[in-house]
Amino acid sequence: MKMKIILVLGLISVLGCQTFLQSKSGEEQKAEYSESHLDFKRWGRDSNCCSAVGVKAAVASGGTNSSKAGLEILKAGGNVVDAAVATAFVLAVERPHSAGLGGGGFMTLYIKDKNPQAQFIDFRETAPEKAHRDMYLDKNGNVIADLSVIGPLSVATPGFVLGLFEIHKKWGRLPWNRLLIPSIDLAARGFKIYPSLAKHILEKQNCLVRDIQAQKLLFRDGKPFQAGDLLVQKDLANTLRRIAKNGAKEFQTGKTAQAIASYMKANSGILSQRDLKNYQIKYRNPILGNFKQWGLISAPPPSAGGVLILQMLKVLEGFPLQELSQKTAQYSHLLSEVLKRAYADRSQFVGDPDFVSLDYSKLTDPTYIEALRSHVSLDKATPSTEIRGGQWMEDKTHTTHLSVLDTQGNAVSSTLTINDIFGACVIAPGTGIFLNDEMDDFSAKPGASNIYGLTGDKANEIHPGKRPASSMSPTIITQNGQPILVVGAAGGSRITTSVFQVILNDLFVFQGDLKKSVFGPRIHQQWMPEFLDLEDSYSEVTKQYLSSIGEKVRQAPWSAVTQAAHLEADGSGRVRAVFDPRDEGGAEAY
Ligand code: GLY
Repeated sequence: MKMKIILVLGLISVLGCQTFLQSKSGEEQKAEYSESHLDFKRWGRDSNCCSAVGVKAAVASGGTNSSKAGLEILKAGGNVVDAAVATAFVLAVERPHSAGLGGGGFMTLYIKDKNPQAQFIDFRETAPEKAHRDMYLDKNGNVIADLSVIGPLSVATPGFVLGLFEIHKKWGRLPWNRLLIPSIDLAARGFKIYPSLAKHILEKQNCLVRDIQAQKLLFRDGKPFQAGDLLVQKDLANTLRRIAKNGAKEFQTGKTAQAIASYMKANSGILSQRDLKNYQIKYRNPILGNFKQWGLISAPPPSAGGVLILQMLKVLEGFPLQELSQKTAQYSHLLSEVLKRAYADRSQFVGDPDFVSLDYSKLTDPTYIEALRSHVSLDKATPSTEIRGGQWMEDKTHTTHLSVLDTQGNAVSSTLTINDIFGACVIAPGTGIFLNDEMDDFSAKPGASNIYGLTGDKANEIHPGKRPASSMSPTIITQNGQPILVVGAAGGSRITTSVFQVILNDLFVFQGDLKKSVFGPRIHQQWMPEFLDLEDSYSEVTKQYLSSIGEKVRQAPWSAVTQAAHLEADGSGRVRAVFDPRDEGGAEAY
């Protein structure tokens, strides 16, 4: 009898619990997040903000002046590559904390009249010749705090200038020096510091104040510049003038290279003139794949972006995505499950393909995808500790972005970086260039986390001439052989998850409303640390539901910033650019 009562009570409580969850999940259909997240007012913007539509071409980037420069070059007869190169150089001036000549990047291209049409160029920073595996460890094998993040030793050999120079040589139309005019002008004339730049200068003041050049540039009377102050970058303008005149050799062997190498030598850095001279860009095969009726072109290793996005899209193909994506908390949970598995694979496998041999196609192999999918439950979170990269395999704001799309079927998606805000916080005298701290994207030792909390394994250990693993995911989505969406993001480990969600938003959730797709609230899960980060508009009901099924819910400490352009879904043939209201940006079209 006692047993029967216990069974009945047990049954009632199980049923009760299910009803509770179902009804919670039922309510979620309406209440996943506040609609205000999609509203320009929430971001303190005016109603016209962040979006531009045109009949010829569109540019979105992380800077107002940068996107304007892209448009200026298009109107002057430049093609999408010219526009991207000019935009990238202005970004280097307008966002000195995010990207620039002292850093590197990736570019995914789709050029309609070329064969092959899809191209990928890796101009990422590489470990200098004198780098070695244990360079950030003390004698007990512990990671020395900040050594890979601040100062000369954290600097990897930059690839920005050679990358853009070679890309222009191969695919550009206008003369090289024409493309640099907008960046030279902006650096020389200056611009008013915008609020997020002011915030970053303040946030990084302790690091910046240690470098005399950074201090001269960004401080007055010992105090950091504030929003509204004029930022003139005379040294950078002169460096850009020399690069406009001499091309990439200025950065490899010219006055600029000498200034960087002498600074490094005098300040215990290891980056040498030989590293700058020997730096090479890589033409790599982009990640190509299909999901449903769309094609994907994205970044291959050393980026984790393309392979992870393709894997996640393929896993999602097996779920009723259209239905789930209509604002259910289950949708966020499903994404979280997919993200944590993909990031476990990232941690274990992704490194520079010139140094690590792995057949990355295994991560998107149909059998592996099926196995990943079969372990995802819609009702229960899998703890990250139960997930290992390759577990089911048979053998086994920071940064910035620009997207350019024209109506002729050409597209450029390029993500540029110096890694952390203001990179290594150092400027070689006379150059005006903030140098990167990309060495932190390597794993200092297996399992040690970097500034984004990402851990890595042997695949991503330091080696001279090697490129660190990256999250940068410049992506192009095609349909019937035509680019329909160009997207990328800034924001460390959150780049890949944000690009993935903007793609899903534009194709499924908001079905062709690019503004909502970029504005829309996002989640982030990167396997370790185990948190499911939700942006602040998600409702309490959603948070409670996700916690109740085992997700470790946390308010996102920060968000990635996306820049996108697409072909309007209304069949008008127009193109639209949208910049992310989460930070400064510009959207232009004509
Ligand atoms: N530095 C950020 C990334 O490459 O992922």
